[in-house]
Amino acid sequence: MAKLKQSNSVCVHLLLLFLCASSCVPISARVAPLLRSYEKSIFGSNFHTVYDTSKYGLLQLSNGLARTPQMGWNSWNFFACNINEEVIRETADALVSSGLADLGYVYVNIDDCWSFATRNLKGELVPDPKTFPSGIKALADYVHKKGLKLGIYSDAGAFTCQVRPGSLFHEVDDANTFASWGVDYLKYDNCFNLGIPPKKRYPPMRDALNASGRTIFYSLCEWGVDDPALWAGKVGNSWRTTDDINDSWPSMTTIADLNDKWAAYAGPGGWNDPDMLEVGNGGMSYQEYRAHFSIWALMKAPLLIGCDVRNMTAETFEILSNKEVIAINQDPLGVQGRKVQVAGIDGCRQVWAGPLSENRLAVALWNRCSKVATITAAWNALGLESETHVSIKDLWQHKVIAGDAISSFSAQVDAHDCQLYIFTPLTVSLSEE
Ligand SMILES: *[C@@H]1O[C@H](CO)[C@@H](O)[C@H](O)[C@H]1NC(C)=O
Ligand SMILES: *[C@@H]1O[C@H](CO)[C@@H](O)[C@H](O)[C@H]1NC(C)=O
Ligand SMILES: *[C@@H]1O[C@H](CO)[C@@H](O)[C@H](O)[C@H]1NC(C)=O
Repeated sequence: MAKLKQSNSVCVHLLLLFLCASSCVPISARVAPLLRSYEKSIFGSNFHTVYDTSKYGLLQLSNGLARTPQMGWNSWNFFACNINEEVIRETADALVSSGLADLGYVYVNIDDCWSFATRNLKGELVPDPKTFPSGIKALADYVHKKGLKLGIYSDAGAFTCQVRPGSLFHEVDDANTFASWGVDYLKYDNCFNLGIPPKKRYPPMRDALNASGRTIFYSLCEWGVDDPALWAGKVGNSWRTTDDINDSWPSMTTIADLNDKWAAYAGPGGWNDPDMLEVGNGGMSYQEYRAHFSIWALMKAPLLIGCDVRNMTAETFEILSNKEVIAINQDPLGVQGRKVQVAGIDGCRQVWAGPLSENRLAVALWNRCSKVATITAAWNALGLESETHVSIKDLWQHKVIAGDAISSFSAQVDAHDCQLYIFTPLTVSLSEE
C-alpha cells in the first residue's frame, strides 16, 4: 500500500512536470501570428478563411533555422545509391559555376548509402571507405570553402532504407559525429522503425542535435505517418507530409494535393515537405516540370533539386533558376499558398494562390487535364475585395500582362501547364488593421 502511494505521488509529480512542459514550453516558444493584419481596402472579409494560418506557430522548434524554406540539392532522386565523394564535390562545383548557389541553392545533401554497412568498434558511424575514402569531414570542408552547406542522412530505425546502420538508440553518438564532421543538415528517414511511433522516435534526435552544440537543420522524413503537421513543429524544421515522390505526373500531382491539406500549419521555422524536386530527371514534360516547380514554390516547399546539376539541359536550368518564382518561395511573409478554386470535370481547372509580403498575391492557374483550358480566377476566391485593381506579372513570360485588372482574371493554359503570376494591388493605403 505504502508502495502504491509512493508510486502515485511519483505519478503526480510526473503529471505536474508534464503539465508544465505542455503549458510552459509552447508559450515561451509561441511566435507571432503570420497574418495578424491585412489591408481591408484590398482584401475581402474572407481573407483569413481562404488563407488560414491559425495552426502555425504554437510549437515551433527554435533553432533559428528555416526562416524560409530550405534550398539546395539532394542526391537521391537522380543517383539513388550510386554516389561517391566525387559526385558530391562536382555537384558543389556545378551549383556554384551554374549560378544556382547564388540564387539560394546552398544545401548539398547526401542521401542514403554514404555509410559503411557496420559501425566501428567504438560504435560510431563510418563513411563507406570505397566511395567516400576522404571522409565526410573533408567533404564538409570542401563545400564550406565554396560558401555551401553539407547535409547528411540517417534513419530513425535500426537500419536506413538501404540497410546501413540506423540512428535509433544511437542519437547522441550520431549527432555528435555529424557535428564533429561539420554537418549542417540532417534528413532523418523512417525505415526499419521497429513499429515505434514517430512521435517517440523523432524527438530524441532533435535533442541530440541540439545538445551537440552545432546548429543543424533537422528534416523529418517520416512519410507523413501520424500527420506530422500536427506535432512536428516542435520537433523539426520541416516534415515530409507524404510518401516518396517519383518522376511522374500522377505522383507529383497526388503529392501536391496531399501536402495542400496542411497549409495552415506551416511558416517560418517549420515547413511542410512534399519531397524533393524531380525537375530535369526526364519523366515529365517541360510544362509538367514548370507546374511542379511553380506549385512547390507557391506552397513554400523546400526547393531541393533532384537532378544531375553537372549536366542540366537549358530548359531544366531555366525552370530552376527563375528568380521571381524562387522569390515567391522565399518571401519573408512565409505563408503557404494553397488550392483556392477548382472547376471543370475532374477538377481540371485549378487556381492556387498565397499571400506575399507588401499586400501582393502569388496566383497559379493550373490545368490538371490533358486538353488546353481557359482558367478564371475570381477575386472572391483569391480573398481579394471585388473592387481591388491589380497589375499582373507573368513569371514565366517575365512581363506584365495586365496593367489594371479587376474582379476576375482568365488565361488559356496548355495541358498540364501552370501559369504563375504576381498580383500587385494598385491602391495601397498604409492604414493597419
Ligand atoms: C538548442 O535549443 C535552444 C532552445 O530551443 C535554442 O535556443 C538553441 O539555439 C539550440 N541550440 C542549437 C545548437 O541548436
Ligand atoms: C509513382 O507514383 C505513382 C503515384 O503515387 C504510382 O502510381 C506509381 O506506381 C509510382 N511509380 C513508381 C515507378 O514507383
Ligand atoms: C547528360 O544528360 C543527357 C540527357 O539530357 C544524357 O543523354 C547524357 O548521357 C548525360 N551525360 C552525362 C555525362 O551524364
